[in-house]
Amino acid sequence: MTTVEDALRTRHSCRAFLPTPVARVDIERLLMLADQSASNSNTQPWQVHVLTGAAKQALSEDLLRAFDAEQIESEEYDYQPRSNQWPEPFRSRRRKFGEGLYGDALGIANGDSAGRRRQHRRNYEFFGAPVEIILTVSTAPLQGALVDAGLFLQALMLAARGLGLHTCPQASLIDFHSVVRRHVTIPDDHLIVCGVALGHADQDDRVNTQHTVREPLGSFARFYSSAVT
Ligand SMILES: Cc1cc2nc3c(=O)[nH]c(=O)nc-3n(C[C@H](O)[C@H](O)[C@H](O)COP(=O)(O)O)c2cc1C
Repeated sequence: MTTVEDALRTRHSCRAFLPTPVARVDIERLLMLADQSASNSNTQPWQVHVLTGAAKQALSEDLLRAFDAEQIESEEYDYQPRSNQWPEPFRSRRRKFGEGLYGDALGIANGDSAGRRRQHRRNYEFFGAPVEIILTVSTAPLQGALVDAGLFLQALMLAARGLGLHTCPQASLIDFHSVVRRHVTIPDDHLIVCGVALGHADQDDRVNTQHTVREPLGSFARFYSSAVT
């Protein structure tokens, strides 16, 4: 049995999967576990769309076509600022992440934008995962619902570890949200939060050697034991 601590420690964004299928019963199990997440007054504002086989392949082909044609759309919601607008300290952390992934793990030289683009393109092949899940959320009210969707996403990724599976959350899909909407039936009052690639990790692929590190506890936690007067 995987402990919560194991699941938290071993989850990482997996960017190369084996083609080994995931049984429908296992997908249903982890969706039911993720569905235990807390939400505002138990409103459960999330929906998921699970694609495998030909459905997943057709979505991938359309996304790749849109990516290659550079038909990027405005985002359905502001998941991130455009890359040059990140404030500190996030800009530096993001740069460090990029150096770790593209440089250290993949050996793509700094400034090799074609190499980086090739790696980014792998998002639209879902990194070879046999399952792609599209997570959507109700837009009423949007900010609170996005918090709830985040809880669902984390629970899904941790539940996957419990079944020996790995995941990669993929906000990259929202760059082409209208393409996604052509393949799955998303209500008009829902927006696409992100995709989640799901499957068995290819541990031999060097992209999976990247392990991100976190800032020390003291950088984000403050403890108070005396009342501030
Ligand atoms: C909502 C969300 C969307 C993300 N979108 C992408 C994505 O489109 N492509 C990708 O390769 N990684 C994506 N990531 C993964 C992050 O880069 C990753 O979580 C972060 O670098 C920390 O690394 P770790 O997940 O391995 O701990 C996303 C993460 C989150 C939480």
